[in-house]
Amino acid sequence: MVKIAPSMLSADFAHLASEIQEIESYGVEYLHIDIMDGTFVPNISFGPMVFKAIRAQSQLIFDCHMMVQNPERYIDDVVKAGADIITVHAEATQHLHRVLQQIKAAGVKAGVVLNPGTPLTAVEPVLDMVDMVLIMTVNPGFGGQAFIESMLTKISQLKQMRDQAGLDFEIEVDGGVNDKSGRQCIEAGADVLVAGSYIFNAEDRQAAVESLR
Ligand code: DX5
Ligand code: ZN
Repeated sequence: MVKIAPSMLSADFAHLASEIQEIESYGVEYLHIDIMDGTFVPNISFGPMVFKAIRAQSQLIFDCHMMVQNPERYIDDVVKAGADIITVHAEATQHLHRVLQQIKAAGVKAGVVLNPGTPLTAVEPVLDMVDMVLIMTVNPGFGGQAFIESMLTKISQLKQMRDQAGLDFEIEVDGGVNDKSGRQCIEAGADVLVAGSYIFNAEDRQAAVESLR
């Protein structure tokens, strides 16, 4: 069954704890946490100090998506704040393999993210060492953007590469996911759906979560 990862970016920041607890009560698997630095992406969200504040109040698996230039500088802080999975962009570091080693050495799961314009070949050499590959289905930086349909081919090609190599990383998709695009992603091979605005802006959030499954 597909896993659901609501993105905290679309939650009401003035009531983070209750927002996360509400979403947790709907049986989702991950909390997707978008860390943005204003350099790698044209937006600033929040850093580890903010999600550390809710760590003690949630049992969810914290899936930290680092949209940060040279993420190696912040891995230790993000681990200490309570991350369970850390994903870094292939485009954000000159030492992707080393950063992934650093994350694994810290005892948390490691993943790699690809912007829509970056080909799968950029991650091929590290596929055997990751727990997750995150395929961006929008250009990162903001919630509420439209799903890029041409990414469906990338998802199915990645699944094919994984199956051929006998690997078992999870395929996560992020950006513009709703009931329609979510279904397309699952059919293409996604294991985890990130959804921000579709869940948090819904009148019935529980129904929105269920519609993604
Ligand atoms: C975008 C972030 C996403 C964002 C998704 O840069 O990485 O996680 O919160 O938001 P929606 O689901 O609204 O596209
Ligand atoms: Zn994200």
